[in-house]
Amino acid sequence: MTQHHWWETAVFYQIYPRSFADGNGDGIGDFQGIISKLDYLTSLGIDAIWLSPHYPSPQLDVGYDISDYTAVNPEYGTLEDFKTFLKGLHERRIKLILDLVLNHTSWEHHWFIDSKSSRDNPKRDWYIWRDGKDGGPPNNWMSTFGGSAWEYDETTDQYYYHYFFNNQPDLNWRNPEVKQAMFDAVRFWLDLGVDGFRLDAIGTIFEDPDLPDQKCPMTHEELYAKMAPFYFGTATPEMETEGKKLREMFALLYAYQVEQPGLHELLQDLRMLIDEYDDRMLVGETYEPAYYGDGTNELHQTFNFPMMNSGKLTPQMIIENQAMRLGECPKGCWPANTLNNHDSARMRTHFGDGKNDVALARLHFAMLMTIKGTPYLYNGEEIAMTNYVIEDINLIRDNIALFFKSVMEKGLGMSAEEAGKRAGGLSRDVCRTPVQWKNAPNGGFSPDGITTWLPVNPNYAEGINIADQENDPDSHLNFYRQLIALRKSTPVLQTGDYTAIEQQQDETLAFLRMGAGKTVLVALNFTENKQKINFSQLAKQAKTLYSSNGNIGETLSLDEVALNPFGILITELLT
Ligand code: NOJ
Repeated sequence: MTQHHWWETAVFYQIYPRSFADGNGDGIGDFQGIISKLDYLTSLGIDAIWLSPHYPSPQLDVGYDISDYTAVNPEYGTLEDFKTFLKGLHERRIKLILDLVLNHTSWEHHWFIDSKSSRDNPKRDWYIWRDGKDGGPPNNWMSTFGGSAWEYDETTDQYYYHYFFNNQPDLNWRNPEVKQAMFDAVRFWLDLGVDGFRLDAIGTIFEDPDLPDQKCPMTHEELYAKMAPFYFGTATPEMETEGKKLREMFALLYAYQVEQPGLHELLQDLRMLIDEYDDRMLVGETYEPAYYGDGTNELHQTFNFPMMNSGKLTPQMIIENQAMRLGECPKGCWPANTLNNHDSARMRTHFGDGKNDVALARLHFAMLMTIKGTPYLYNGEEIAMTNYVIEDINLIRDNIALFFKSVMEKGLGMSAEEAGKRAGGLSRDVCRTPVQWKNAPNGGFSPDGITTWLPVNPNYAEGINIADQENDPDSHLNFYRQLIALRKSTPVLQTGDYTAIEQQQDETLAFLRMGAGKTVLVALNFTENKQKINFSQLAKQAKTLYSSNGNIGETLSLDEVALNPFGILITELLT
C-alpha cells in the first residue's frame, strides 16, 4: 500500500484539559494531571492528542476565549509544564495538536483592550467596529449564542461584532496586522514542536463587509428551540426531514456571517506556513469539504459533523453519509470521523436507547473504527461516560445555558423555574464533567472535599470509572483498547478503500474495506434481534478478527452469518 501520513492512520483522542486530570488538587484539571496520565494514554493505543485550549483565558467559554496566544493558563501550569507534557508525549510516539481560535479573542486580550480604548488607537481596526443604525445595532445579525451579534460600547459610542458570546469579539481578518500577529503565535507553538492544530470555528472568520440584513423567516430563539433535539441527541430518524429544513433556516440566518470570501486564501496561507515545518497537520472545525482545497493546499481534514449531528443513526443513514462524504472529498483529501466532542452529547447518551446504551455505544464505536477516515475520540467515551445534567443553574458553567433558558421561557412558554432546571440539559456542560478515574469521592478526579469546577457525575460509583474497568477484561475500556489495537494491526482498516454492501432491510450495516490484496468485511447489527445474513456472494469463508460473540480467530462460513443483538463482526475474507 502507498505510504500514508501519520494523521491518516492515527487514532486521535481529545483532551479537555479542565476536566481530564487534576494534578494539584484544586478541582481543575491541569498539565501535571495530564502528565501523570501519560502511561494511561499510551495504554489506550491512541496515536495523537487534540488538546482543547490551554491558553490564559477568563474561562467565560472554557478557554475558547483566549487572552494570550503564546502562554499557558496559570490554572493549568506553566510553559515548562507544557514542554514536559509535549516531551512525554513525543517519547511515547504520541503527536500533539493544539486548538487554535482564530475567529475571536477574549475581551480581556490586550489587543481588544487597546482597540476599545479609542477610535484612533492603532489596534482599533483589529476588531470589527461599526456605528449603530436608527438607535440600535448596525444590522439584525445574531450571535450564535443568543442575542444581537453587536455589543454597544459606551467609551467610543460604537458597536463591536461577536459571532459567539459578547466576551469573544471577532478579529478583523481583513487587517494584515491581525494575520501577522496570529501567524507569529502559530510559529511559536510549531517551533516548540507541536504537530498541528485544530482550527476552531473556521467558517466564521470573515463576514460580509456590507453588513446586509439577514432574511431568515424564523427568529433565532424559535430556531434553536426546534433544533435542540438534534444537538442533544434526542432527535429520532423520523425527525430528519425537519432537521434538514431547520439547517436550511440556519443557513439563511447566518448567510452573511459565515463561509465568506477570503477564507480559502487564508487557509492556503496557513497551509504554506505549516508546510515549512515537517509533517504537521490542520484539522478544521468545519464539515465543509470545500476547505480541503484541491486536496493538498488547505486543510488536511474536516470533520464528518453530519454524522455526529444526525439524531440516532440507522445503517442506511450511515451508508448515505459515507457516500456523500467520500464522494465530495477531493483527490488527496482524507476524511475524519467523530461521534462526540466537548460541544455535543456524549456518544453513549446520544446513541443509546435507555436499555442497551453500552451495547449501542460499542456498536457505534466499532463503526467509527472501521469506516474510512481518521477517528477522533473524546476523553471519557472509552469508559462510556454519560451526559450529566446539572439542575442547579448556579453550578452550570456553560453560559449557553442562559440562552437556552430564555429559549425555553420565550420560545416554549416554560416557567422560569422549570426552564432553569432544564437549562443544564441543554448546556454543553453535560459532556464536560470531570473524567471519572476511580470509585472514590469526586470520582478520583480531585481529592475528597474539594469542589470541582463542574460537579462529577455520581455514576462513577456504578462502574463508570477507569480503575474499575482496568481490570475487567470485558469492560468498555478494554473493548476500546482491543478495537484500537485491531485497527493498528490491520492496515486495511486504516487506509483501505470502503465499499458499502446494500442490505434488504435497514437493520445491519455491512461494508468492505479493501487494499493490498486483503478484504475485511464489517457487519454491525443495529437491532436488538438476532440476524442471519448470507454474505456468500463475497467469499465462502472468512477469518474472524473481532466478534462480539467472542470467537476471534475462527474460520467462519459466510453462507449464514449469525449476529447477536447489536452484534459486531469484523472478518477477513479468505479467497
Ligand atoms: C467551537 C468550540 O468547539 C466551542 O466550544 C466554542 O464555544 C466556539 N467554537 C467558540 O470558540
